[in-house]
Amino acid sequence: MNKTRKVHKLMLYDYPEYYETAFSFRNIEKETLFLHECIKRFSKNEVHNIFEIGCGNAPHAGMLTNLGYSYHGLDLNRNMLDYAAYQWKDLPQKIKLHEANMIEFTYPVKQDFAFVMLGSLYLNNYDEITSHFDSMSRLLNKDGLYFLDWCIQFGDPLVHNDNNKFIIEKDGIKVESEFKIKLLDKKEQMYEEVWTIKINDRGRHKQFDMIERNKAILPEQFLQFIKSRDDFEFIGWWKEWNFNHPIENNDNVIRPIVLIQKI
Ligand SMILES: C[S@@+](CC[C@H](N)C(=O)[O-])C[C@H]1O[C@@H](n2cnc3c(N)ncnc32)[C@H](O)[C@@H]1O
Repeated sequence: MNKTRKVHKLMLYDYPEYYETAFSFRNIEKETLFLHECIKRFSKNEVHNIFEIGCGNAPHAGMLTNLGYSYHGLDLNRNMLDYAAYQWKDLPQKIKLHEANMIEFTYPVKQDFAFVMLGSLYLNNYDEITSHFDSMSRLLNKDGLYFLDWCIQFGDPLVHNDNNKFIIEKDGIKVESEFKIKLLDKKEQMYEEVWTIKINDRGRHKQFDMIERNKAILPEQFLQFIKSRDDFEFIGWWKEWNFNHPIENNDNVIRPIVLIQKI
């Protein structure tokens, strides 16, 4: 899940209903209002268009549309996009969905705000990171914002290895999820994450075993990367989804929020 590119088929994402159940612990309303607050606080532009990277089932699309934004989502999984389109088909303003790879893409409508949730930056090396930010630079208007949730690795991911299991049930579907993380290469900050999902769908059983390789983006590396470019600037980073709680020093933050701006 976290800042990785899959090394084999994205199985869980082929079953959006199971994905949705597995992540139904989130407070989508709170997250959406936080995006709205971020725009009000930091955007120099009047924001009409909002673009989500790795949008999947587009959980925030309904509320964002009701707040008056025009929602655009990019994902490479057709099943996820079809599910999102069906789920939001009755909104007064149609959402726009684009099937593409976040590593390199072009999009016809310029945007004032883009976001990526749950560490869904599937970039595995420096060239892919560069190519992604080149694409974002083409996408955003001057002063456009890019909001990244859980994409920068503060602290040691192995610390949370014992606490990566949960069970959740929704509408008769029970999901057991477990992550195991292993350090592959300390110098390159490469991690391997084995994600096992067991489904009990009203008596029908399925299991997904997904292996992901992940190059962690460390805070200092990210700052240097942004500094090295002439098209983005760093605005800030925060913890606990609270703009009154900036991240300081080496805080061991699990789900950091980062904001950068196109210049
Ligand atoms: C963890 S889900 C996040 C879904 C949604 N944004 C949310 O907040 O729940 C990650 C999504 O990223 C998509 N994805 C993975 N690799 C991608 C890539 N290279 N380009 C575009 N989308 C990708 C997957 O298909 C999946 O829908």
